[in-house]
Amino acid sequence: MTAQEIRQSYLAFFKDRGHKVIPRASLVPQNDPTTLFTGSGMQPLIPYLLGAEHPEGKRLVDAQTCLRAQDIDEVGDNRHTTFFEMLGNWSLGDYFKREQIGWLFEFLTKVVGLDPAKLYVTCYIGNEQFNITKDDAAADLWAEQFANAGVDAKRVDIGSEADGYRKGMADGRIFFYDGKKNWWSRAGDEASTPVGDPGGPDTEVFYDFGTKHDPKWGENCHPNCDCGRFIEIANSVFMAYQRTDSGFIELAKQNVDFGGGLERIAVAAIDDPDVFKISLLLPIIRKLEQLSGKTYTSHTESMRVIADHLRAATFLAVDDVVPSNKEQGYVMRRLLRRAVRFAFDLGIEQNFLEQLVPVIADLYQDDYPEIAAKRQPVIDVLVKEEKAFRQTLRKGLKEFEKTYGSSANKLISLDGAGVFRLYDTYGFPWELVIEEAFKRGIEIQADWRTDFDQLMEQQRNRSRTATRGEFKGGLADHSEITTKYHTATHLMYRALRKTLGDHVVQRGSNITAERLRFDFSHPEKLTPEQIKSVEDLVNEQIAKDWPVTWREENTKSALASGVIGAFGDRYGDTVKVYTIGDPDGENYSREICGGPHVEHTGQLAEGGKKFKIIKEESSAAGVRRIKAVLS
Ligand code: ALA
Repeated sequence: MTAQEIRQSYLAFFKDRGHKVIPRASLVPQNDPTTLFTGSGMQPLIPYLLGAEHPEGKRLVDAQTCLRAQDIDEVGDNRHTTFFEMLGNWSLGDYFKREQIGWLFEFLTKVVGLDPAKLYVTCYIGNEQFNITKDDAAADLWAEQFANAGVDAKRVDIGSEADGYRKGMADGRIFFYDGKKNWWSRAGDEASTPVGDPGGPDTEVFYDFGTKHDPKWGENCHPNCDCGRFIEIANSVFMAYQRTDSGFIELAKQNVDFGGGLERIAVAAIDDPDVFKISLLLPIIRKLEQLSGKTYTSHTESMRVIADHLRAATFLAVDDVVPSNKEQGYVMRRLLRRAVRFAFDLGIEQNFLEQLVPVIADLYQDDYPEIAAKRQPVIDVLVKEEKAFRQTLRKGLKEFEKTYGSSANKLISLDGAGVFRLYDTYGFPWELVIEEAFKRGIEIQADWRTDFDQLMEQQRNRSRTATRGEFKGGLADHSEITTKYHTATHLMYRALRKTLGDHVVQRGSNITAERLRFDFSHPEKLTPEQIKSVEDLVNEQIAKDWPVTWREENTKSALASGVIGAFGDRYGDTVKVYTIGDPDGENYSREICGGPHVEHTGQLAEGGKKFKIIKEESSAAGVRRIKAVLS
């Protein structure tokens, strides 16, 4: 089966089993400024997983385009891509483990035709600290499926990463892992689940390519090993819990959240571990071979990077993102520039997007009508950016000649910092600088690369912090009044959770000098009493004149201690946490946030002002919107 056929059959298979096919959501999340891109199929459905009624019912299925920009530097091996499609089906308090496992096995083995003997599964081992039991029920259901297919299904408690998964394969078929591998939330294991988010034990399916274990990845091979023998193709999350300040509560309804990587299922279907060989990527590679006269075998990494990045950029353009220096536009620009730079390695130094983007559009336009509809504008946006970038590169070449010249007429000597400056200002790829230096007889020094890499790393760290602060706050500016509204937003968020419950999760925040606006998950209209209680709580905290401070904290322990955060897996190792009150003692609110905030809450009452909710309305299904002022 081709990838396109797998997508179609999956939708049809679940449609036949009572599911409504819902359209993909945009790559740019709506009502959720806390994360840049849609990174999994469940993300647009969070309000419904938390209990809101979905207009299409309790059984849903889709193919969701996803972008994981954090993987950008990993692209080049045989499996990583920034853009991918996640096949998803959901039960919103309807069917549970039995149906999910049975249907998934049937789909993978009967419809896609995967050999059951090449499938391995993993289940959740349980967690005493959080009082959640081992998922024997899922394992029993898998055992039944394997038995019907005539495949042995021995169970193995594989252990943890800390003990090196010492049991290894042990002739097992069903492997129990801890929450690091078999608990799913947007931010990882049980302790990392953001307060308010849904989560649960999951069960994953792996495909065995039968390659030899590479001990570089650990002494023992096992399904979750990264040596390349296995690839995860499907993940069923039994989303039945919600994280609270103190642990987990069971959701009123038990949900299934299934996600399967289309590209990965397709790679299993062709039984070849190279994802770039599937029917949605190979035609791009072939076109690159044709344009460059080079082969995929000799220029594997560059062709993979270009194919992935241009596919991602094309879908961003379809979803109305344009290259810029901010947020989604910045990532799009980075993807395009990297693609153009890697094309240098293929000897393509002229505009080539005009020829490549139509190939990508052809691959998707039958299944995603919006691509057919926007074909020409999409090509135009991408081609325009390529042209602008090449102009910058040309300017850079002039600057190169002027500053570094040849060994005879140079102004200053080139060094690692100089190479970085050319990269940073003119987008010069490392290879280009080296080539230009070589042409001019400039001697290349061994330490350039280390210095360059170090400066790159520093820049990456800087941009991570800068972007986070900017859109988390959703602030229009940093004036005194918007800063006050920002602190008022934290106070109100806490008050909403205290009044309505922990299912309240921030879905959007927008602050101007006139008012704060806040979107949050909650299934119904607030009563006048609830509104009054939120107002009173906020005004009490203002009167208490709490200090507002921030400090860097370890992300994991911050989330585990109940700090609110909504970035999912986009956090780095440390985060900036704002506390209203004493961070180590009595406090009212602790949130991951970039700031800025007032120094103490009493400032919000300056001029005799009081916090007041002026509007409460619906913003999207399961999401409420509040506008509030200090007046
Ligand atoms: N939400 C689950 C995942 O992304 C299915 O793996």
